[in-house]
Amino acid sequence: MADIPRREFMRSALAGGAALFLPRIARAASGFGGRARAALADSHIEILLDEPIGTIAPEVYGHFTEHLGGVIYDGVWVGTDSKVPNIGGIRKALVDAMRVIRPSVVRWPGGCFADSYDWRDGVGPSDQRPTRTNFWAGDPGLKDVAGGPAKYDTNAFGTSEFAHFCRLIGAQPYMAANVRTLPARVFDGWLEYCNAPAGATTWSKARAAAGDSAPYDIKYWGVGNEAWGCGGDFTPEEYAEEYRRFAGWGVPEFGVDLRFIASGPSGADVEWTRRLMGALRDRNSLDRVWGLSMHHYCSAPDAGADAVAFDERGWYDLLVSADRMETVIAAVWETMREADRTHRVKLVVDEWGAWHKSAPIVDPSHLFESQSTIRDALVTGLTLDIFHRNADKVAMANVAQLINCIHSLFFSHGDQFVATPSYHVFAMYAAHQGAQAVRTEVSAPRVGWAAKDGTRQSFWGLNGSASLVGRDLTLTVTNASLTEPRDAELVVRGGTVQAMRATTLAARSVHDVNSFAHPDVVVPVTADLTARELNGVYRFPPASVTKLAIRLG
Ligand code: AHR
Repeated sequence: MADIPRREFMRSALAGGAALFLPRIARAASGFGGRARAALADSHIEILLDEPIGTIAPEVYGHFTEHLGGVIYDGVWVGTDSKVPNIGGIRKALVDAMRVIRPSVVRWPGGCFADSYDWRDGVGPSDQRPTRTNFWAGDPGLKDVAGGPAKYDTNAFGTSEFAHFCRLIGAQPYMAANVRTLPARVFDGWLEYCNAPAGATTWSKARAAAGDSAPYDIKYWGVGNEAWGCGGDFTPEEYAEEYRRFAGWGVPEFGVDLRFIASGPSGADVEWTRRLMGALRDRNSLDRVWGLSMHHYCSAPDAGADAVAFDERGWYDLLVSADRMETVIAAVWETMREADRTHRVKLVVDEWGAWHKSAPIVDPSHLFESQSTIRDALVTGLTLDIFHRNADKVAMANVAQLINCIHSLFFSHGDQFVATPSYHVFAMYAAHQGAQAVRTEVSAPRVGWAAKDGTRQSFWGLNGSASLVGRDLTLTVTNASLTEPRDAELVVRGGTVQAMRATTLAARSVHDVNSFAHPDVVVPVTADLTARELNGVYRFPPASVTKLAIRLG
């Protein structure tokens, strides 16, 4: 996003205010207040440059695309003969927007869909591919949709189309194998199609016929998905048996550093984690596990359940639910250690996001499509900050799902396309990728609200993370308070601040959304701070996500 003059930035930040169900947000410009206000700081942020946590894996900025509702068809894929601007059938607007945020990895084809998918249906000449019933065809949410690819998948989008999409946006593919309904032998064939040298096998010749003689060299492979549920209803021990078959002896490697990901727990299910890790160890399969997947969706009950029409309680309940990610990571990580003392196996949070119960949708074929407000942007910011603070544990994460679905970065329909507030957080946070996470201590007054039974609840007021590349320090902060700005004194231990650029995402009303007609309602604003301003206290507006790009002296 282009810089805007400081005066305009202040004016736009001053416009903050909530409508509909919520009290108006206290009017509060963001920015530095100078020495005079330092004594008035109510919060404190201390960045400890000499306390590194670990490198933030670029793969933490991963995405997820499933053959579900409008994610692939009407989302990623419009088809080669479409009037919608496309590159080989892939929506051009999506490619352009993704390039801006430097995506590292994209997971495909599911989700639950993966364990019903035969990759062989999606290769070869497009007009000869079979049409199959989609895994999600029976979902009650699709009841109004007579037909179309959300119910009956034409397989127009298959392995090569997905590889092209990843290449266009500069991301690595992360494939999920079908463990529930296909044998390991078929999975071996998929590895051949993707990674065998040109002309070596029948499958690599089929890939060449699709235009790609060079192998895709795909290294990330999920062995199933949610094996405890839609991925087969396995016990951990049964799944470990399957895992050994899929990832064990004889898997064709073709010189690629294959990284297998085992299907781990839903949230903090330590029982599944403990039994699976133990069963894999007992079968000598643990050294074939690169990552253990974990899924955590957040949600708010009652009046917080709608994506847009939430109340004060719904605001905080969702943030509390999202913030559980930190304790879930700690619990699963601690349990993994029982079988893997050195923590060679890392965590892969390959589904996360806010899953709202009800949500205004763009099109009824877009199953689970959920509008996105600044509340979802805060979920995005605080979750990415949690991943940074746990950079030594989390090796990959994939927000669910990229477009027209749960916690999406985009909505599209026909030739219409719009980016959500969560997309803007990804753009703001992109500088963290591959950087060294450093310990960041934040103290601020807690925020409070009334629970359904009237009891007072509380939550942190300000939180964030910092990372370093050379002399460039990135600090990202979320202010969870609906109404109160926070004046934070900023201390960088081990460095001096030379210059700073602030980018702030806030909304006029917390119910505001970006729509096809009005795409720029919730967008970030950027301002450079002068040397004089750098000596003071930074004001974080209420209900906001902020990035401070700091140049150290
Ligand atoms: O993201 C939607 C679904 O949620 C996925 O298919 C599944 O893995 C999870 O339960």
